[in-house]
Amino acid sequence: MPATVILGAQWGDEGKGKLVDRLAEQATWVARFQGGNNAGHTVVLGEQVLKFHLLPSGITRKECNLILGDGMVIDPWVLNKELVDWKESSGEDPRGERLFISERAHIILPYHCYMDSLDKKIGTTGRGIGPTYADKINRIGLRFGDLSEVDGDLEWASSSSERMNASLEAAGSSERVSAESLLEDVKWICDNFSSSIAHTGLMLDNALKLGEHVILEGAQGCLLDIDQGTFPYVTSSVTSRGNSTHGAGIHPGHVEEVIGITKAYITRVGNGAMPTELLDEVGDHLGTVGHEFGTTTGRKRRCGWFDAVVMRHAHRINGFTGLALTKLDVLGGLDEINICVAYELDGQEIREMPSSASALARCKPIYITMPGFPSHSLTEWLGIAKKANEDSMGFKALPSAAQHYIKQLEVLVGVPCSSVGVGPDRDATIDRVD
Ligand code: IMP
Repeated sequence: MPATVILGAQWGDEGKGKLVDRLAEQATWVARFQGGNNAGHTVVLGEQVLKFHLLPSGITRKECNLILGDGMVIDPWVLNKELVDWKESSGEDPRGERLFISERAHIILPYHCYMDSLDKKIGTTGRGIGPTYADKINRIGLRFGDLSEVDGDLEWASSSSERMNASLEAAGSSERVSAESLLEDVKWICDNFSSSIAHTGLMLDNALKLGEHVILEGAQGCLLDIDQGTFPYVTSSVTSRGNSTHGAGIHPGHVEEVIGITKAYITRVGNGAMPTELLDEVGDHLGTVGHEFGTTTGRKRRCGWFDAVVMRHAHRINGFTGLALTKLDVLGGLDEINICVAYELDGQEIREMPSSASALARCKPIYITMPGFPSHSLTEWLGIAKKANEDSMGFKALPSAAQHYIKQLEVLVGVPCSSVGVGPDRDATIDRVD
């Protein structure tokens, strides 16, 4: 079976965790390929709410193997905490059994978090992501596969800590790193993770050759991509399809299906322009009903209308074969729903996103307006979804205004919706039937 790629099509937080958790039922491998614990995935299983930052969302399916791939940056202490929490709730320690960390993945050290905490411009998650990728690009970063070479090496630790302290001082930080603490950190990482460090690209390639199903789980979203996003207000990795195989250590020919996840509206955390941002009571409705607070930092997410300009950009970069529309239920109860179809920039109508951050900040949304549909409780929406799937009704189980809204989005983006989410629960998702 080929690989399926799951990607955020907006500014992240589209609901990738829930979809991966669902699809992982039919997969034997779920691999992350970029980013680190700047991501936050929530999976709701009945009463249980699970939040992950590093562990792939397939963790909840015991028969699924989990890969933290080549293109990732990994904070070992955060990973350890997630594993301790997982062991408490499930009794399982998957390290080296079904959880494997790429030899090529880079390590986030305390130094990287100190540097990231100085950010005042981008509104980063402060998890050390950018500084770790910077060290990778500067070819001085530390990878999991290189740990054994530096374990106990005082010369390496002294020169590394000197370099780190010079950078901290130059950046105005009062934090410092000692050679001893660096060596202790390396030893601790080796002690805790040696059994799971592996040639993960080879493992995935072998699995695909054996006909197994691999899910490549994206983090963040297309608009946060370092190359294709709203630079400089982006993350430090390539979040898009092109990197899904590269960052997992396999070739692009393995991929057949690319699902772009999008909310039925749009959100953003951190700084940077968002043309359809709503600072009125509709924005409050979306934020409150949609519980729009970041999983990683708890920050309030900025909310706005669905932006088809953003989505067409994301589709051009990623070539989605299907869209997974999430949180449609959150729009319930609004009289009218707007969809942004183009921008007005300095008096001109444009249909593509400008690359300049200041030009994007001047863009005004051009909307079409659709009729709204009634609100329902979470239990009612869950009931609608269950019935839709059991009776093979698909989207026909939804209110007719909601069906029209979905059709309109499909036409504007040029991609069919393969599923529609109507609530946080694993089962509150309606699959397409036609
Ligand atoms: P960084 O990835 O921590 O460097 O943050 C860079 C930008 O990406 C900031 O605006 C963050 O808020 C945003 N960001 C990073 N990860 C996520 C995510 O998983 N969801 C939403 N925004 C994110």
